[in-house]
Amino acid sequence: MLGKLLRTFLILPKLKRLNIKWKMLLLIAFALSLMVIKHHFRIKKYLQKINLCWDQEAEEPQLSKWFNPKKRPDVITTTGWLAPVIWQGTYDRQVLEKYYKRLNITIGLAVDASGKFSYQDLQQFIQSANKHFMIGYNVIFYILVDSFSRVPPIVLGPLRTFKVFLIFRDSMWEDLNFIYMKNLHDYIITHIQHEVNFLFIMTANQIFKDDFGVETLGKSVAQLSAWWYFKNVKNFPYERRSKSAAFIPFEEGDFYYHSAIFGGTVQEVLDLITEYQKGAIQDTKNGLSSTYERHLNKYFFIKKPTKLLSPEYNWDPSFRIPPQIKCVKIAWQSKGV
Ligand SMILES: *[C@@H]1O[C@H](CO)[C@@H](O)[C@H](O)[C@H]1NC(C)=O
Repeated sequence: MLGKLLRTFLILPKLKRLNIKWKMLLLIAFALSLMVIKHHFRIKKYLQKINLCWDQEAEEPQLSKWFNPKKRPDVITTTGWLAPVIWQGTYDRQVLEKYYKRLNITIGLAVDASGKFSYQDLQQFIQSANKHFMIGYNVIFYILVDSFSRVPPIVLGPLRTFKVFLIFRDSMWEDLNFIYMKNLHDYIITHIQHEVNFLFIMTANQIFKDDFGVETLGKSVAQLSAWWYFKNVKNFPYERRSKSAAFIPFEEGDFYYHSAIFGGTVQEVLDLITEYQKGAIQDTKNGLSSTYERHLNKYFFIKKPTKLLSPEYNWDPSFRIPPQIKCVKIAWQSKGV
């Protein structure tokens, strides 16, 4: 009995020592496994990153994956140069979202809010664009005004910001569109080109009525005129004076594009503005003056847009709505301009 007790007493400290050793061992094993797990996650993250970079290089989904022209047999859905015309029902926005979301793109929307547009125009434009323009993407609104006092209070949703740019006048030029475009060109060079992947240029007298999403993104995007889409090409109000840089002969032309909206990559937008400026300067030298819209039509006649937006994207609500207009995305406020 006594011997047993003694032996227990002798073993006990040994056991305790053993216990400490075990604990140490366990602790080391635990620390080691933590390190292994951490390392594993680091490797996994690294692999994911490589994968992401790889995916980012993936091309935009093929047209046939998201665009089905057969869905709208009642309208022109593909141009002669095979560019898609985006009508309600022809596109699958979700397929494109998968691609563009991963790229984390930023889309710029420059709005002409110069003197000819009212304070209310700009207010309605921004409020409705905040609700419908490229929801879920980084958006920067570039508001071009003659005076800061013409900017309404602006409250924006997540991922949206805005910048206000002043339009500087030049005593040489009287054409307001020319002055606006000259300013816009300079702001694109100094700011916008460093901040966005795609850029839209719009006038303030429009109200977004429905979602204007990634189906509208492209290299160069032109807006079909609501009125002229339904008319004969020979009646289009193109510039018909052969001496003008905007000249398009009577037998020619594809569509009549509305100057209220155009967009694309920053480079394409810059190219269009530069060509317009060259044309307008040349016309002035020749004692002619064409409109900005006619120069824009000439530009797209020579350099065909890669994507066209149906008149649903810019509908004048004062017109009777024909059956082809399934969903008005933007309402054009024709009065007051
Ligand atoms: C996505 O882009 C925005 C704006 O450029 C940037 O602030 C944000 O950190 C980016 N997010 C990721 C996950 O890269």
